[in-house]
Amino acid sequence: MPQFLAVTSRGLSDVLAEELKELGFDAKVKGLAGVTFESNWEGVYRANLELRTATRVIKPVMDFPAYNPEELYANILKHDFTKYINPTQTFAIDAAVRESSFRDQRFVAMKIKDAVADQFREKFGERPSVDRDEPDLVIMAKIVKNQVSIAIDTTGDSLSNRGYRSEAGEAPLREHLAAGLLRFADVKPDTVVVDPMCGSGTILIEAALRARAIAPGSLRQKKYAFQKLKDFKAEAWDKVVTESLDRESAASPAHFYGYDKDGDVLEIARRNAERAGVDNDITFKYGAVDQLEAPAEKGVIIVNPPYGERLGVTEELKDVYRDLAYSLKRNFKGWTCWLLSGNEDLTKSLKLKSTRRCPVFNGSIECRFLEYKVN
Ligand SMILES: C[S@@+](CC[C@H](N)C(=O)[O-])C[C@H]1O[C@@H](n2cnc3c(N)ncnc32)[C@H](O)[C@@H]1O
Repeated sequence: MPQFLAVTSRGLSDVLAEELKELGFDAKVKGLAGVTFESNWEGVYRANLELRTATRVIKPVMDFPAYNPEELYANILKHDFTKYINPTQTFAIDAAVRESSFRDQRFVAMKIKDAVADQFREKFGERPSVDRDEPDLVIMAKIVKNQVSIAIDTTGDSLSNRGYRSEAGEAPLREHLAAGLLRFADVKPDTVVVDPMCGSGTILIEAALRARAIAPGSLRQKKYAFQKLKDFKAEAWDKVVTESLDRESAASPAHFYGYDKDGDVLEIARRNAERAGVDNDITFKYGAVDQLEAPAEKGVIIVNPPYGERLGVTEELKDVYRDLAYSLKRNFKGWTCWLLSGNEDLTKSLKLKSTRRCPVFNGSIECRFLEYKVN
């Protein structure tokens, strides 16, 4: 069976592998941000629709060394790219180059584009045109130390863009990262989750979607890249979608609670939850962390406070962290709190001892996702 690579943010490959295994794939972690799995195309449709912690699924098609443009061009011709699209369709090359004698990724992209175009011209007498905005086929090229890896994108617009978050507050978490944090925290459908600084509500909406087994791709408006490929099987895709809808749970999961001191962002969170179809599962309420009360006997707090990197000033923020620690100790005995920290100085002002530390990247910021047992 062909092999595919599911891609995610650095630090999430373990939870992504766990998710792929739950979907029935034989998954193997490949580095900090990727997981390989074997699948037929129907399985890839399902992976794209159902994966919560991945950003994309690609199909590696060739790997070869190249030290000059001629070698690059000649090797590209060895793979038949005409099987993916018709000459009347469009394509684009997404190239990334590191530590190689090729310095300019635009030059690399152009060389690959020429080889693919020549292959089409040779076979059909015409070639697909390049469209950088909405291509039908994206050929991904990565060159590291002159080792070239070529892959076909099956996803298109990132899986992270679920479609419910057309509005956001400041520094929103990407949806796949929020889903990854919920896995680190071992949140189950019946786990009450509180986010005391919920912003646009991403963590809670992801928790509710998962609790109801609503596929993250079910709200997607844009087509997946695989839907534009020549051998796309519409019937198989319909079957995958129907099976996914059948799995959605009508039973009420746990309730989720989001608070924030910014009333405007709470309105955004409410609208996002409504768009996601989970507004009945989440209560959003105005409140600062120093007033935080436990809405249930037990549960998990997941919080993504401002770090001072993109928001706020570190000195002022220390008070916010102290307030959070104070509320936890006063009102949340027996709960577990998970905090995404992008700034160790701020985390120190909690004066709590973490029981687990998971390294994850939030965009380019190296973070720790920290577990605290409140007692
Ligand atoms: C990094 S953002 C959270 C982003 C959120 N995870 C999302 O995906 O949109 C931090 C949030 O903390 C809120 N905040 C800052 N200080 C607070 C405080 N003292 N009490 C409650 N919320 C606070 C801000 O209004 C902001 O919405």
